[in-house]
Amino acid sequence: MENNQRGFTSNIGAIAAAAGSAIGLGNIWRFPYTLGQNGGGAFLLIYIIFVIFLGVPLMMTEFAIGRRSQSNVVGAYRVLSPKHKGWMGIGILGLICGFMIYSFYSVVAGWTLNYIALSATGGFAGKDAAAVGEIFTQFTQSSYLPLITQAAFLILTGVIVVMGVQKGIEKFTKILMPILFLLMILLCVRSVTLDGASEGLKFLFKPDFNNFTATGVLSALGQAMFSLSIGMGLLVTYGSYIRKNDDLLKTSVCIAGTDTLIALLAGIAIFPAVFAFGLSPESGPSLVFITLPNVFNNMPLGMVFAILFFVLLAIAALTSTISLLEILVLWAVEELKMKRITATILISFVIFAIGAVCSLSLGSWSDFTIGGLCVFDLFDELTATYFMPIGALAFTIFFGWFYRKEEVWNELSNGGTLKAKYFKIYYFIIRYIAPLALIIVLITGALGIGN
Ligand code: PHE
Repeated sequence: MENNQRGFTSNIGAIAAAAGSAIGLGNIWRFPYTLGQNGGGAFLLIYIIFVIFLGVPLMMTEFAIGRRSQSNVVGAYRVLSPKHKGWMGIGILGLICGFMIYSFYSVVAGWTLNYIALSATGGFAGKDAAAVGEIFTQFTQSSYLPLITQAAFLILTGVIVVMGVQKGIEKFTKILMPILFLLMILLCVRSVTLDGASEGLKFLFKPDFNNFTATGVLSALGQAMFSLSIGMGLLVTYGSYIRKNDDLLKTSVCIAGTDTLIALLAGIAIFPAVFAFGLSPESGPSLVFITLPNVFNNMPLGMVFAILFFVLLAIAALTSTISLLEILVLWAVEELKMKRITATILISFVIFAIGAVCSLSLGSWSDFTIGGLCVFDLFDELTATYFMPIGALAFTIFFGWFYRKEEVWNELSNGGTLKAKYFKIYYFIIRYIAPLALIIVLITGALGIGN
Protein backbone atom coordinates (compact mmCIF):
# COMPACT_ATOMS: atom_id res chain seq x y z
CA MET A 1 0.00 0.00 0.00
CA GLU A 2 3.01 2.29 0.23
CA ASN A 3 2.70 4.77 -2.53
CA ASN A 4 5.01 7.73 -2.52
CA GLN A 5 2.79 9.79 -4.77
CA ARG A 6 0.11 9.84 -2.12
CA GLY A 7 0.00 12.14 0.85
CA PHE A 8 -1.72 9.83 3.28
CA THR A 9 -0.18 6.50 4.00
CA SER A 10 -1.05 5.52 7.52
CA ASN A 11 -4.20 4.49 9.26
CA ILE A 12 -4.29 7.17 11.95
CA GLY A 13 -3.20 9.72 9.37
CA ALA A 14 -6.12 8.79 7.14
CA ILE A 15 -8.70 8.97 9.92
CA ALA A 16 -7.28 12.23 11.24
CA ALA A 17 -7.27 13.58 7.70
CA ALA A 18 -10.88 12.56 7.14
CA ALA A 19 -11.84 14.31 10.38
CA GLY A 20 -9.74 17.33 9.41
CA SER A 21 -11.50 17.42 6.07
CA ALA A 22 -14.92 17.25 7.69
CA ILE A 23 -14.35 19.91 10.34
CA GLY A 24 -13.91 23.29 8.77
CA LEU A 25 -15.74 26.33 7.53
CA GLY A 26 -18.72 24.08 6.88
CA ASN A 27 -19.32 23.78 10.62
CA ILE A 28 -18.56 27.27 11.82
CA TRP A 29 -19.38 29.44 8.82
CA ARG A 30 -21.85 27.56 6.59
CA PHE A 31 -23.91 25.64 9.16
CA PRO A 32 -25.06 28.68 11.18
CA TYR A 33 -25.96 30.80 8.19
CA THR A 34 -27.79 27.97 6.39
CA LEU A 35 -29.69 27.22 9.59
CA GLY A 36 -30.45 30.92 9.98
CA GLN A 37 -31.85 31.13 6.47
CA ASN A 38 -34.00 28.05 6.99
CA GLY A 39 -35.88 28.88 10.12
CA GLY A 40 -33.72 27.52 12.95
CA GLY A 41 -34.81 24.61 15.15
CA ALA A 42 -36.68 22.62 12.52
CA PHE A 43 -33.61 22.71 10.30
CA LEU A 44 -31.43 21.51 13.16
CA LEU A 45 -33.69 18.54 13.83
CA ILE A 46 -33.78 17.45 10.18
CA TYR A 47 -30.03 18.03 9.92
CA ILE A 48 -29.28 15.71 12.83
CA ILE A 49 -31.60 13.04 11.43
CA PHE A 50 -29.74 13.25 8.11
CA VAL A 51 -26.34 12.99 9.79
CA ILE A 52 -27.33 9.87 11.74
CA PHE A 53 -29.33 7.97 9.15
CA LEU A 54 -27.67 9.09 5.94
CA GLY A 55 -24.36 10.69 6.88
CA VAL A 56 -22.94 7.79 8.86
CA PRO A 57 -23.96 4.98 6.43
CA LEU A 58 -22.82 7.04 3.45
CA MET A 59 -19.48 7.74 5.05
CA MET A 60 -19.07 4.02 5.78
CA THR A 61 -19.94 3.26 2.17
CA GLU A 62 -17.29 5.58 0.75
CA PHE A 63 -14.69 4.26 3.17
CA ALA A 64 -15.63 0.67 2.32
CA ILE A 65 -15.43 1.27 -1.43
CA GLY A 66 -11.99 2.81 -0.99
CA ARG A 67 -10.70 0.09 1.30
CA ARG A 68 -12.03 -2.66 -0.95
CA SER A 69 -10.55 -1.23 -4.15
CA GLN A 70 -7.39 0.26 -2.62
CA SER A 71 -7.83 3.11 -5.02
CA ASN A 72 -9.00 6.69 -5.58
CA VAL A 73 -12.58 7.30 -6.63
CA VAL A 74 -12.06 7.08 -10.40
CA GLY A 75 -9.91 3.96 -10.14
CA ALA A 76 -12.21 2.37 -7.54
CA TYR A 77 -14.88 1.68 -10.11
CA ARG A 78 -12.34 0.38 -12.57
CA VAL A 79 -11.31 -2.16 -9.92
CA LEU A 80 -14.70 -3.05 -8.48
CA SER A 81 -16.73 -2.97 -11.66
CA PRO A 82 -14.40 -3.44 -14.63
CA LYS A 83 -17.22 -4.09 -17.09
CA HIS A 84 -19.30 -1.02 -16.43
CA LYS A 85 -17.23 2.01 -17.23
CA GLY A 86 -20.19 4.35 -16.69
CA TRP A 87 -19.61 4.32 -12.93
CA MET A 88 -16.45 6.29 -13.44
CA GLY A 89 -18.76 9.21 -14.18
CA ILE A 90 -19.28 9.50 -10.41
CA GLY A 91 -15.57 10.05 -10.03
CA ILE A 92 -15.68 12.79 -12.63
CA LEU A 93 -18.66 14.47 -10.95
CA GLY A 94 -16.65 14.34 -7.73
CA LEU A 95 -13.74 16.05 -9.42
CA ILE A 96 -15.92 18.84 -10.79
CA CYS A 97 -17.36 19.20 -7.31
CA GLY A 98 -13.85 19.41 -5.87
CA PHE A 99 -12.85 22.19 -8.29
CA MET A 100 -15.99 24.19 -7.58
CA ILE A 101 -15.88 23.80 -3.78
CA TYR A 102 -12.19 24.59 -3.54
CA SER A 103 -12.81 27.75 -5.58
CA PHE A 104 -15.32 29.41 -3.29
CA TYR A 105 -13.99 27.76 -0.13
CA SER A 106 -10.55 29.26 -0.63
CA VAL A 107 -12.15 32.69 -0.89
CA VAL A 108 -13.79 32.31 2.52
CA ALA A 109 -10.64 30.71 3.93
CA GLY A 110 -8.84 33.86 2.77
CA TRP A 111 -11.32 35.97 4.71
CA THR A 112 -10.20 34.27 7.92
CA LEU A 113 -6.65 35.53 7.28
CA ASN A 114 -7.89 39.08 6.99
CA TYR A 115 -9.86 38.61 10.19
CA ILE A 116 -6.74 37.46 12.01
CA ALA A 117 -5.03 40.65 10.89
CA LEU A 118 -8.02 42.81 11.79
CA SER A 119 -8.28 41.26 15.26
CA ALA A 120 -4.56 41.65 15.88
CA THR A 121 -4.58 45.32 14.93
CA GLY A 122 -7.64 46.12 17.04
CA GLY A 123 -9.80 46.65 13.96
CA PHE A 124 -13.02 45.83 15.78
CA ALA A 125 -12.29 47.52 19.08
CA GLY A 126 -15.05 49.82 20.32
CA LYS A 127 -17.16 49.29 17.18
CA ASP A 128 -20.89 48.59 17.42
CA ALA A 129 -22.68 45.82 15.51
CA ALA A 130 -23.43 48.01 12.49
CA ALA A 131 -19.84 49.18 12.18
CA VAL A 132 -18.53 45.61 12.40
CA GLY A 133 -20.98 44.70 9.63
CA GLU A 134 -19.69 47.55 7.54
CA ILE A 135 -16.12 46.24 7.84
CA PHE A 136 -17.22 42.89 6.43
CA THR A 137 -19.15 44.41 3.54
CA GLN A 138 -16.37 46.75 2.57
CA PHE A 139 -13.76 44.03 2.71
CA THR A 140 -15.64 41.36 0.75
CA GLN A 141 -16.86 43.81 -1.85
CA SER A 142 -13.47 45.34 -2.50
CA SER A 143 -11.70 43.99 -5.53
CA TYR A 144 -8.13 43.31 -4.47
CA LEU A 145 -7.78 42.42 -0.84
CA PRO A 146 -9.95 39.27 -0.90
CA LEU A 147 -8.01 38.09 -3.95
CA ILE A 148 -4.74 38.56 -2.13
CA THR A 149 -5.92 36.68 0.95
CA GLN A 150 -7.33 33.93 -1.27
CA ALA A 151 -4.00 33.64 -3.10
CA ALA A 152 -2.19 33.49 0.23
CA PHE A 153 -4.38 30.64 1.38
CA LEU A 154 -3.91 28.76 -1.89
CA ILE A 155 -0.14 29.09 -1.59
CA LEU A 156 -0.20 27.90 2.01
CA THR A 157 -2.27 24.86 1.06
CA GLY A 158 -0.15 24.16 -2.01
CA VAL A 159 3.12 24.24 -0.08
CA ILE A 160 1.79 21.79 2.51
CA VAL A 161 0.42 19.44 -0.13
CA VAL A 162 3.74 19.41 -2.00
CA MET A 163 5.78 18.89 1.14
CA GLY A 164 3.70 15.93 2.22
CA VAL A 165 0.72 16.19 4.44
CA GLN A 166 0.58 13.21 6.64
CA LYS A 167 2.48 14.25 9.75
CA GLY A 168 1.27 17.82 9.62
CA ILE A 169 -2.40 16.97 9.48
CA GLU A 170 -2.13 14.43 12.22
CA LYS A 171 -0.52 16.98 14.48
CA PHE A 172 -2.96 19.73 13.60
CA THR A 173 -6.01 17.63 14.25
CA LYS A 174 -4.70 16.15 17.45
CA ILE A 175 -3.50 19.29 19.17
CA LEU A 176 -5.33 22.18 17.64
CA MET A 177 -8.82 20.77 17.27
CA PRO A 178 -9.21 20.26 21.04
CA ILE A 179 -8.12 23.89 21.52
CA LEU A 180 -10.69 25.01 18.98
CA PHE A 181 -13.23 22.96 20.85
CA LEU A 182 -12.43 24.59 24.21
CA LEU A 183 -12.48 28.02 22.70
CA MET A 184 -15.88 27.34 21.16
CA ILE A 185 -17.20 26.37 24.58
CA LEU A 186 -15.90 29.60 26.03
CA LEU A 187 -17.60 31.56 23.26
CA CYS A 188 -20.83 29.68 23.92
CA VAL A 189 -20.70 30.64 27.60
CA ARG A 190 -20.18 34.30 26.73
CA SER A 191 -22.89 34.26 24.11
CA VAL A 192 -25.62 32.63 26.20
CA THR A 193 -24.96 35.00 29.09
CA LEU A 194 -25.52 38.11 26.99
CA ASP A 195 -28.70 40.07 27.65
CA GLY A 196 -31.47 38.84 25.40
CA ALA A 197 -29.68 35.61 24.57
CA SER A 198 -32.61 33.32 25.22
CA GLU A 199 -34.36 34.29 21.99
CA GLY A 200 -31.40 32.91 20.12
CA LEU A 201 -31.48 29.62 21.98
CA LYS A 202 -35.17 29.32 21.23
CA PHE A 203 -34.51 29.99 17.58
CA LEU A 204 -31.85 27.29 17.49
CA PHE A 205 -33.49 24.57 19.55
CA LYS A 206 -37.24 25.01 19.26
CA PRO A 207 -38.41 23.38 16.06
CA ASP A 208 -40.99 25.50 14.31
CA PHE A 209 -42.22 23.74 11.21
CA ASN A 210 -44.56 26.55 10.17
CA ASN A 211 -42.03 28.25 7.98
CA PHE A 212 -40.07 25.17 7.10
CA THR A 213 -40.22 24.10 3.46
CA ALA A 214 -39.13 21.28 1.16
CA THR A 215 -36.27 23.50 0.07
CA GLY A 216 -35.26 23.69 3.72
CA VAL A 217 -35.09 19.89 3.88
CA LEU A 218 -32.92 19.90 0.76
CA SER A 219 -30.65 22.55 2.30
CA ALA A 220 -30.29 20.43 5.45
CA LEU A 221 -29.32 17.44 3.33
CA GLY A 222 -26.81 19.53 1.37
CA GLN A 223 -25.33 20.91 4.58
CA ALA A 224 -24.93 17.40 6.00
CA MET A 225 -23.14 16.24 2.83
CA PHE A 226 -20.97 19.34 2.71
CA SER A 227 -20.03 19.25 6.35
CA LEU A 228 -19.10 15.57 6.32
CA SER A 229 -17.33 15.87 2.92
CA ILE A 230 -19.58 13.14 1.55
CA GLY A 231 -20.63 12.44 -2.02
CA MET A 232 -17.58 13.46 -3.99
CA GLY A 233 -15.40 10.42 -3.44
CA LEU A 234 -12.87 12.13 -1.22
CA LEU A 235 -13.53 9.63 1.53
CA VAL A 236 -12.97 6.77 -0.91
CA THR A 237 -9.34 7.78 -1.11
CA TYR A 238 -9.04 7.97 2.67
CA GLY A 239 -10.82 4.64 2.97
CA SER A 240 -8.06 3.03 0.95
CA TYR A 241 -5.68 3.80 3.82
CA ILE A 242 -7.82 2.60 6.70
CA ARG A 243 -6.71 -0.71 8.20
CA LYS A 244 -8.74 -3.79 7.29
CA ASN A 245 -9.54 -4.63 10.90
CA ASP A 246 -10.83 -1.18 11.80
CA ASP A 247 -14.55 -0.99 12.37
CA LEU A 248 -15.91 1.47 9.84
CA LEU A 249 -19.05 2.12 11.86
CA LYS A 250 -17.04 3.29 14.87
CA THR A 251 -14.76 5.41 12.74
CA SER A 252 -17.67 7.05 10.94
CA VAL A 253 -19.68 7.68 14.11
CA CYS A 254 -16.65 9.34 15.71
CA ILE A 255 -16.06 11.64 12.76
CA ALA A 256 -19.73 12.50 12.23
CA GLY A 257 -20.26 13.00 15.98
CA THR A 258 -17.34 15.38 16.40
CA ASP A 259 -18.34 17.27 13.28
CA THR A 260 -21.90 17.74 14.50
CA LEU A 261 -20.77 18.76 17.96
CA ILE A 262 -18.61 21.54 16.54
CA ALA A 263 -21.48 22.74 14.34
CA LEU A 264 -23.79 22.77 17.37
CA LEU A 265 -21.28 24.73 19.42
CA ALA A 266 -21.01 27.22 16.57
CA GLY A 267 -24.79 27.56 16.63
CA ILE A 268 -24.83 28.12 20.40
CA ALA A 269 -22.04 30.67 20.13
CA ILE A 270 -23.72 32.56 17.33
CA PHE A 271 -27.51 32.70 17.63
CA PRO A 272 -27.86 34.08 21.16
CA ALA A 273 -25.46 36.82 20.10
CA VAL A 274 -27.35 37.45 16.87
CA PHE A 275 -30.51 38.16 18.83
CA ALA A 276 -28.75 40.01 21.63
CA PHE A 277 -27.18 42.44 19.16
CA GLY A 278 -30.31 42.79 17.06
CA LEU A 279 -28.74 41.25 13.95
CA SER A 280 -30.69 39.18 11.43
CA PRO A 281 -30.28 35.38 11.50
CA GLU A 282 -30.98 35.37 7.79
CA SER A 283 -28.07 37.49 6.72
CA GLY A 284 -26.26 34.68 4.88
CA PRO A 285 -22.50 34.18 4.46
CA SER A 286 -21.65 37.27 6.51
CA LEU A 287 -23.33 35.92 9.68
CA VAL A 288 -20.30 34.51 11.55
CA PHE A 289 -17.96 37.24 10.45
CA ILE A 290 -20.23 39.93 11.85
CA THR A 291 -21.60 38.19 14.93
CA LEU A 292 -18.45 36.82 16.50
CA PRO A 293 -16.35 40.01 16.47
CA ASN A 294 -19.25 41.56 18.38
CA VAL A 295 -19.11 38.77 20.93
CA PHE A 296 -15.35 39.26 21.31
CA ASN A 297 -15.90 42.99 21.80
CA ASN A 298 -18.02 42.10 24.79
CA MET A 299 -15.49 39.81 26.44
CA PRO A 300 -12.59 40.50 28.74
CA LEU A 301 -9.40 39.83 26.75
CA GLY A 302 -11.62 39.84 23.68
CA MET A 303 -8.76 40.73 21.36
CA VAL A 304 -6.67 37.76 22.45
CA PHE A 305 -9.59 35.40 22.03
CA ALA A 306 -10.47 36.89 18.67
CA ILE A 307 -6.97 36.32 17.33
CA LEU A 308 -6.90 32.81 18.72
CA PHE A 309 -10.32 32.01 17.28
CA PHE A 310 -9.59 33.21 13.77
CA VAL A 311 -6.22 31.45 13.77
CA LEU A 312 -7.95 28.21 14.72
CA LEU A 313 -10.69 28.79 12.16
CA ALA A 314 -8.01 29.30 9.51
CA ILE A 315 -6.37 26.05 10.55
CA ALA A 316 -9.67 24.17 10.48
CA ALA A 317 -10.21 25.58 7.00
CA LEU A 318 -6.66 24.60 6.05
CA THR A 319 -7.14 20.93 6.90
CA SER A 320 -10.18 21.01 4.61
CA THR A 321 -8.46 22.85 1.74
CA ILE A 322 -5.57 20.40 1.98
CA SER A 323 -7.98 17.53 1.44
CA LEU A 324 -9.64 19.34 -1.46
CA LEU A 325 -6.34 20.07 -3.19
CA GLU A 326 -4.92 16.66 -2.37
CA ILE A 327 -7.79 14.91 -4.12
CA LEU A 328 -7.38 17.04 -7.25
CA VAL A 329 -3.61 16.61 -7.29
CA LEU A 330 -3.91 12.87 -6.78
CA TRP A 331 -6.19 12.65 -9.79
CA ALA A 332 -3.78 14.65 -11.96
CA VAL A 333 -0.83 12.54 -10.79
CA GLU A 334 -2.50 9.15 -11.13
CA GLU A 335 -4.72 9.68 -14.14
CA LEU A 336 -2.90 12.37 -16.14
CA LYS A 337 0.58 11.22 -15.09
CA MET A 338 1.62 14.70 -14.03
CA LYS A 339 4.37 15.42 -11.56
CA ARG A 340 3.09 16.25 -8.10
CA ILE A 341 4.56 19.72 -8.04
CA THR A 342 3.38 20.62 -11.56
CA ALA A 343 -0.11 19.40 -10.74
CA THR A 344 -0.22 21.42 -7.53
CA ILE A 345 0.87 24.63 -9.22
CA LEU A 346 -1.41 24.22 -12.23
CA ILE A 347 -4.48 23.33 -10.21
CA SER A 348 -3.86 26.17 -7.75
CA PHE A 349 -3.75 28.63 -10.65
CA VAL A 350 -6.99 27.32 -12.10
CA ILE A 351 -8.63 27.52 -8.66
CA PHE A 352 -7.35 31.04 -8.19
CA ALA A 353 -8.91 32.12 -11.48
CA ILE A 354 -12.29 30.52 -10.74
CA GLY A 355 -12.16 31.62 -7.10
CA ALA A 356 -11.47 35.20 -8.17
CA VAL A 357 -14.71 35.15 -10.15
CA CYS A 358 -16.53 33.86 -7.05
CA SER A 359 -14.99 36.58 -4.93
CA LEU A 360 -15.72 39.39 -7.39
CA SER A 361 -19.28 38.14 -7.77
CA LEU A 362 -19.90 39.36 -4.21
CA GLY A 363 -18.82 42.88 -5.09
CA SER A 364 -18.22 44.57 -8.42
CA TRP A 365 -19.62 41.71 -10.50
CA SER A 366 -22.70 41.10 -8.39
CA ASP A 367 -25.01 42.18 -11.22
CA PHE A 368 -24.18 39.03 -13.10
CA THR A 369 -26.49 36.32 -11.80
CA ILE A 370 -27.66 32.90 -12.93
CA GLY A 371 -31.07 31.84 -11.70
CA GLY A 372 -31.00 34.80 -9.31
CA LEU A 373 -27.73 33.70 -7.69
CA CYS A 374 -24.31 35.30 -8.00
CA VAL A 375 -21.48 32.97 -9.00
CA PHE A 376 -20.34 32.47 -5.40
CA ASP A 377 -23.81 31.43 -4.21
CA LEU A 378 -24.37 29.38 -7.34
CA PHE A 379 -21.22 27.32 -6.76
CA ASP A 380 -22.07 26.87 -3.10
CA GLU A 381 -25.64 25.78 -3.83
CA LEU A 382 -24.92 23.60 -6.86
CA THR A 383 -22.21 21.57 -5.17
CA ALA A 384 -23.62 21.09 -1.67
CA THR A 385 -27.28 20.91 -2.50
CA TYR A 386 -27.20 18.98 -5.76
CA PHE A 387 -23.88 17.44 -6.80
CA MET A 388 -22.97 15.93 -3.43
CA PRO A 389 -26.38 14.33 -2.80
CA ILE A 390 -26.39 13.05 -6.41
CA GLY A 391 -22.90 11.61 -5.89
CA ALA A 392 -24.04 10.02 -2.63
CA LEU A 393 -27.05 8.52 -4.39
CA ALA A 394 -24.77 6.95 -6.98
CA PHE A 395 -22.61 5.46 -4.21
CA THR A 396 -25.60 3.83 -2.55
CA ILE A 397 -26.93 2.42 -5.80
CA PHE A 398 -23.53 1.02 -6.68
CA PHE A 399 -22.85 -0.55 -3.29
CA GLY A 400 -26.43 -1.55 -2.47
CA TRP A 401 -27.52 -2.87 -5.85
CA PHE A 402 -24.59 -3.53 -8.16
CA TYR A 403 -21.98 -4.85 -5.81
CA ARG A 404 -22.44 -8.34 -4.38
CA LYS A 405 -23.88 -8.44 -0.87
CA GLU A 406 -21.32 -11.01 0.36
CA GLU A 407 -18.52 -8.75 -0.77
CA VAL A 408 -20.03 -5.83 1.13
CA TRP A 409 -20.31 -8.04 4.21
CA ASN A 410 -16.74 -9.23 3.80
CA GLU A 411 -15.45 -5.71 3.61
CA LEU A 412 -17.33 -4.41 6.64
CA SER A 413 -16.65 -7.45 8.82
CA ASN A 414 -13.10 -7.98 7.59
CA GLY A 415 -13.95 -11.43 6.29
CA GLY A 416 -15.98 -12.26 9.42
CA THR A 417 -13.35 -11.32 12.03
CA LEU A 418 -15.34 -8.26 13.14
CA LYS A 419 -18.83 -8.94 14.42
CA ALA A 420 -20.47 -6.13 12.47
CA LYS A 421 -23.83 -6.72 14.16
CA TYR A 422 -25.18 -3.60 12.57
CA PHE A 423 -24.75 -5.06 9.08
CA LYS A 424 -28.42 -5.77 8.39
CA ILE A 425 -29.49 -2.27 9.32
CA TYR A 426 -26.63 -0.75 7.36
CA TYR A 427 -27.43 -2.76 4.28
CA PHE A 428 -31.12 -1.99 4.49
CA ILE A 429 -30.35 1.72 4.72
CA ILE A 430 -28.00 1.88 1.78
CA ARG A 431 -30.12 -0.41 -0.37
CA TYR A 432 -33.54 1.12 0.26
CA ILE A 433 -33.79 4.01 2.70
CA ALA A 434 -30.89 6.15 1.56
CA PRO A 435 -31.55 6.04 -2.20
CA LEU A 436 -35.26 6.65 -1.69
CA ALA A 437 -34.73 9.47 0.77
CA LEU A 438 -32.12 11.09 -1.46
CA ILE A 439 -34.35 10.88 -4.53
CA ILE A 440 -37.41 12.24 -2.72
CA VAL A 441 -35.55 15.10 -1.06
CA LEU A 442 -33.75 16.02 -4.28
CA ILE A 443 -36.90 16.05 -6.39
CA THR A 444 -39.28 17.75 -3.97
CA GLY A 445 -36.62 20.26 -2.94
CA ALA A 446 -35.57 21.07 -6.50
CA LEU A 447 -39.13 21.56 -7.66
CA GLY A 448 -39.96 23.52 -4.55
CA ILE A 449 -42.96 21.24 -3.88
CA GLY A 450 -44.60 22.13 -0.59
CA ASN A 451 -42.91 25.52 -0.33
N1 PHE B 1 -16.41 19.40 5.09
C1 PHE B 1 -15.66 20.60 4.89
C2 PHE B 1 -16.13 21.63 5.92
O1 PHE B 1 -17.08 21.40 6.62
C3 PHE B 1 -15.80 21.13 3.49
C4 PHE B 1 -15.44 20.12 2.44
C5 PHE B 1 -16.39 19.67 1.57
C6 PHE B 1 -14.14 19.64 2.35
C7 PHE B 1 -16.09 18.73 0.62
C8 PHE B 1 -13.83 18.71 1.41
C9 PHE B 1 -14.80 18.24 0.54
O2 PHE B 1 -15.56 22.67 6.03
